[in-house]
Amino acid sequence: PLAGPLSGKTALVTSGPTHEPIDPVRYIANRSSGKQGHAIAAALARLGANVTLVSGPVTIPDPAGVTVVRVETAREMLAASLAALPADIAVMAAAVADWRTADAADAKMKKDGSGRPPALALTENPDILATIGHHPDLRPTLVVGFAAETGNVAGYARDKLARKGADLICANDVSPEHGVFGGDANTLHLVGPDSMETWPTLSKVEVAERLAGVIAARLGE
Ligand code: C5P
Repeated sequence: PLAGPLSGKTALVTSGPTHEPIDPVRYIANRSSGKQGHAIAAALARLGANVTLVSGPVTIPDPAGVTVVRVETAREMLAASLAALPADIAVMAAAVADWRTADAADAKMKKDGSGRPPALALTENPDILATIGHHPDLRPTLVVGFAAETGNVAGYARDKLARKGADLICANDVSPEHGVFGGDANTLHLVGPDSMETWPTLSKVEVAERLAGVIAARLGE
């Protein structure tokens, strides 16, 4: 780790989507490039933190100076995240699939000629942020979540703070006209229990740097 305001601090960052298998060749996923989460991991490391990045399947390179743990499914992401605790900081930027198939098939599912498609039975995935935010023993000092919404951004973020046990929610508007998915820019609202800041449209790297600065300031208080 580098010398900096977060020297001696440990951080867990989740990033990317999860892939939930339907059968060996098909999966359910969320759209996520991993760019924002990876940039946050790199920015925390540049401030001196010892960072573990738990990443779902992404095509971008590993950030410099962080320990990367690769996972596929939400359940694997939860296990790897818990294994990275205790930590001072958790930033949960992954786009975790809310549901997985109740029973993934062991062999590729085939069309049966009837013209009737198979029904997928889904079951809910664990909420990694809520598990960590409400953890009785291992809750990090600062827990930061994300919220991708298509309206009422601040309102939903406030609900999410309480429900997930987070200290801060980074909320962005992902209505199609804003073009966040896979893009390089982000317009973010930083929502706390009784605060809300709206940041200018910044690159994901700049968002990461600014957020790392907020985290360092909070831990320094
Ligand atoms: O409920 P929603 O998916 O909008 O919450 C988003 C936040 O919760 C993000 O920080 C995301 O990484 C986290 N999350 C999680 N595990 C889930 C679902 C969301 O950690 N199963």
